[in-house]
Amino acid sequence: MRTQRAFRCTMGLLAALAAIALAGLGCRSGQSEGKRQLVLAHVHPDSHPVHRSMVRMGELLERNSGGALTLEIRHSGQLGAERELLEKTQAGGIQMTKVSTSLLESLVPELGVLSLPYLFHDDEHYWAVLDGPVGRDMLDRLEAVGLKGLTYYDAGARSFYAREPITGLQSLQGRQIRVQQSPTMIRTMEALGITPVALAFGPELTQALEKGERVDGAENNLPSYWTEQHYLSCPHYYADRHSRPPDVLVMSLKAWNALSAQEQAALTDAVRQSAVYQRQLWQEEVARILRELDGLGVTVAPDVEREPFIQAVQPVYDGLPAEHKAWVDRVRAARPAATQPATAEAP
Ligand code: GCU
Repeated sequence: MRTQRAFRCTMGLLAALAAIALAGLGCRSGQSEGKRQLVLAHVHPDSHPVHRSMVRMGELLERNSGGALTLEIRHSGQLGAERELLEKTQAGGIQMTKVSTSLLESLVPELGVLSLPYLFHDDEHYWAVLDGPVGRDMLDRLEAVGLKGLTYYDAGARSFYAREPITGLQSLQGRQIRVQQSPTMIRTMEALGITPVALAFGPELTQALEKGERVDGAENNLPSYWTEQHYLSCPHYYADRHSRPPDVLVMSLKAWNALSAQEQAALTDAVRQSAVYQRQLWQEEVARILRELDGLGVTVAPDVEREPFIQAVQPVYDGLPAEHKAWVDRVRAARPAATQPATAEAP
């Protein structure tokens, strides 16, 4: 009897222990199901400063969320060119992308204001606009098209480069220059007397430049000129710095709304730190690229005559709709806030 009771007791105990163990397992698998991976796709290679800052963001996101949120970064246009990435993000097929604000102009026309030629006086003014109420209000406009604007990344200034030497505005007139798919960029080229060719950024563009088919040159910032190896076919870079549309990190509004308040805070902090880090990396990278290009004998003409460019683009401003003129006035009036942006912490 005693043995039987002891046996039943032992079995009962074992069953109870097994139930606890299973419950534990269930709980663990529930947690792992609760873990979410956010996919972030963009067009730059993994050596680009924007990509490297996103890696930092992923590390911080994982740390801030206690491992509940992770980031998978698909670079080099693996999931498509910027327009496709935007569509996928709007539809929630991927959770995030990074594009130039020029590409967003087709969805939210007022964002085209940031692509206007010679809009920003200097770095201080650029960041006063983006970090201040104007930048915030522009990001907020994205909600109407299913996107949550998370942050801006520095995308430097865009300048012309070509297969043949560039000696000034006249020498560019009549040439076919690749531009972003942006009405403001197209109007700017037309005002300058240049023939715009709107093409997606990526391998198609690099090949067109190599073959000299459809295009005689393009315009971009130094990191993209370098990472896309456009300097190989277009070794003449003319630093006229005609426009400065920033890059922007956007998230599917659906995906954003699906995060808890704590998760949103974890992501917001990771994004903020990644943006601070990216500004620093960008400066370092531009200085390094200039040295590399110099070593390769690529001409980067820094002392360009900008006045003829500035005068030629005036009709672009004159032709703006009233609402965009009001945005331009706000941009011009922007002043830096008294506080400096927070510094990035190492993860
Ligand atoms: C910049 C920007 C890209 C954009 C590219 C372009 O390099 O960072 O997001 O795609 O310009 O010229 O299209």
